[in-house]
This record gives sequence, C-alpha cells and structure tokens, in this order.
Amino acid sequence: MSTVEEQSNEGTIDYYEVRREVTDLHPSEMVFLPRVLFPGAKVLDVGCASGGFFNILRSLEPLIEYTGVDIAAPAIELARQQYPEARFEVLEGTQLPFEDNTFDIVHCTKVLVIEPRYKEILKEMYRVSNRFVLADIRLLKGIGSEQDFEKSFYRVQLTDDRVEFTVPYVVNDADEVVEFVLHLKPKPKALRGTGYFHRVADEAETPHDEVCMTILLVQKGEQGQGETVVDLNDLPIEFLITGQ
Ligand SMILES: C[S@@+](CC[C@H](N)C(=O)[O-])C[C@H]1O[C@@H](n2cnc3c(N)ncnc32)[C@H](O)[C@@H]1O
Repeated sequence: MSTVEEQSNEGTIDYYEVRREVTDLHPSEMVFLPRVLFPGAKVLDVGCASGGFFNILRSLEPLIEYTGVDIAAPAIELARQQYPEARFEVLEGTQLPFEDNTFDIVHCTKVLVIEPRYKEILKEMYRVSNRFVLADIRLLKGIGSEQDFEKSFYRVQLTDDRVEFTVPYVVNDADEVVEFVLHLKPKPKALRGTGYFHRVADEAETPHDEVCMTILLVQKGEQGQGETVVDLNDLPIEFLITGQ
C-alpha cells in the first residue's frame, strides 16, 4: 500500500487529473449539489486533487468563492496552474486551519472511499462549515469498524502502464456512520442521504461484492438545536437509529 507522499511524483500526476465537467458526475451527486449552491457561497472542497471540481461547481453556480485543499502537493500545483482564479492549499483534511463556521458548503467527494479516517475528516468539515457538509462514502450494514486494508484495496493503474499502486478500499458500517453524524456538536439540523448499491469495481480487491454508494448531506445546527431531521429514505439500507 503506498502513501500519498510516495504517490507524489511526476508519474502520478494523471491520478489527480480527475473530474472537471458536470457530465463527469454520478446522477446521485446532482441530487443535493444544485440545492445547496447559491450566489456568493463560500465553498471548501476537501481532497480537491487537481481542482476539477472548481470547474464543475462554477458551471452550476458561477458566483462561488472556492477554496480547494488536498494533501498531495503535485495535485495542488496542477490545480493552481489550471485555475489561477481559485484558491488552493496543501492541507490535511483532518486538520483544517480555518476558524469554526468559515464556509457555507464543505464538500468532499471520492476521498472517504480511500481515506479510512472518516470521523476525523467529517468532524473537521462540520466544524468549519456554517451550513452544509456534503460527502460521499461507501456503506454496508453490520460490518463493524475493523477493516483490514491488506485485504481491501483498490489498484490504481496510471496511463503509464508501468505505474500501479494501491489505495485502501474503504467501506464503513452504515449504522456507525449515521450514529457518528447524529452526535456531531452542535447537533445537526438535518441529515439527508441518497445512493444505491453498486458492484465493486474490477480493480478493487475486497471481501464485498457490492456496496452502497452514498451521498450524505448534513445541515449544521446551532447550540440548543432540537431533534435532527433524518431523511435517509432514499437509501436502500434500513438504518438502526438509536436515541439522538
Ligand atoms: C480521487 S481524488 C478526488 C478528487 C475530487 N474530489 C473528485 O471528486 O473528483 C482523491 C483525493 O483525495 C486526497 N486525499 C486523500 N486523503 C486526504 C486527506 N486526509 N486530506 C486531504 N486530501 C486527501 C488525495 O490526495 C486525492 O487527491
């Protein structure tokens, strides 16, 4: 398993050349995004890679104030070259050097599917958001929190045939994730989800045949927030939600 630092060389640049057009999005990603964007929104994109999501977001809403952060310096360098009009920083998603409530929308896609520390990242995203947190995550019922990334990984084959490395193939326990989100402080105003079961990709080595590709939208609450509105009915999973 290689680390992000080990991947950070010229040969891996195309790994970070990811999605940049609205047509690159999965239909489930279009469920919440257009509903949360608004003119003037301050957006933080965690794990922005080479910045393509800036192009996607401004196609949906041109008047956003965008900051993209990623742990990989070569990706951020490329992002700055391609989109000099946006702000990009090399930062670790678990330690965001921003004040509480700085951004209207904190977005993170295709990161928690390779990064096992979802709790640390979601907690930071929620802290620096003043309104919405939008993230994708793979869920399964009843798998618990122990994962062996020697047995669950994804092979990244770059265009240069000789370069292959692996990243963790992360699947999280559905009830544990929802429980975690519902206990964020201050208590969320709302938690919504959408998604579908999908066969795992051929490049993935994992004990699972299919996983629930899930998009979660968390709306931040205020101190003294009442019950969280939970709407996960669009997900093909029956969640066990204990006392909030
Ligand atoms: C597949 S790219 C996602 C690109 C883009 N967000 C998208 O949805 O197309 C995953 C990115 O997450 C970054 N990443 C992984 N763990 C991270 C962390 N802890 N903090 C910040 N970035 C991270 C990687 O460096 C990589 O650039």
